[in-house]
Amino acid sequence: MGDSEDDETPQLSAHTLAALQEFYAEQKQQSDLGENDKYNIGIIEENWQLSQFWYSQETALRLAQEAIAAAGEGGRIACVSAPSVYQKLRQLHREDFSIYIFEYDKRFAVYGEEFIFYDYNNPLDLPPKIAAHSFDIVVADPPYLSEDCLRKTSETIKYLTQGKILLCTGAIMEELAAELLGVKMCKFIPKHTRNLANEFCCYVNYESGLDCGL
Ligand SMILES: C[S@@+](CC[C@H](N)C(=O)[O-])C[C@H]1O[C@@H](n2cnc3c(N)ncnc32)[C@H](O)[C@@H]1O
Repeated sequence: MGDSEDDETPQLSAHTLAALQEFYAEQKQQSDLGENDKYNIGIIEENWQLSQFWYSQETALRLAQEAIAAAGEGGRIACVSAPSVYQKLRQLHREDFSIYIFEYDKRFAVYGEEFIFYDYNNPLDLPPKIAAHSFDIVVADPPYLSEDCLRKTSETIKYLTQGKILLCTGAIMEELAAELLGVKMCKFIPKHTRNLANEFCCYVNYESGLDCGL
């Protein structure tokens, strides 16, 4: 029998304690990585029925950086039918920015409160928490290269933005995009993880790092 209760408490050697601490640190690192993994582009696979074509890593990063620069310190960014830009922004750990993903595909609801269900056919059918003109910049990539789709998506963009617009769509939409949103084509060419048949472009209505000659 020991002399006191303390003597009966199992003691870990310094070596075992160090090993245990290392084990917990690794576990924490893995769970942090898991949290970050959910923002990987492609973790939600493309569904071509929904016209889903994800940007390359480089393009998503460039667009995310552009959105950060345009929104300014602590700004608000709306990603409309552009989930890869949302994912890239969140991968960059920019918790100082308020970022929303407006998407039709409910698989993106994994992003919780930041997911806003959005169907371009009902352009202003948005929840009350989304106030008019409450975003510093709207990044949008409408699902279809049609006049109807761009017109309706433009209604949403104009409702959401305080002014700045970054639109990615086909080169064939240039004239209509200029008429509806006052945007100009940039020299920067967005790339996708797969080669698309249509020529894609970025358009902005402000002086941006994507070089559009404004
Ligand atoms: C051409 S993709 C743009 C994706 C972008 N390249 C990216 O990597 O983030 C069009 C997006 O519109 C979404 N979409 C499909 N049908 C929609 C609808 N009815 N209303 C709004 N968005 C829709 C798709 O889920 C897809 O994310």
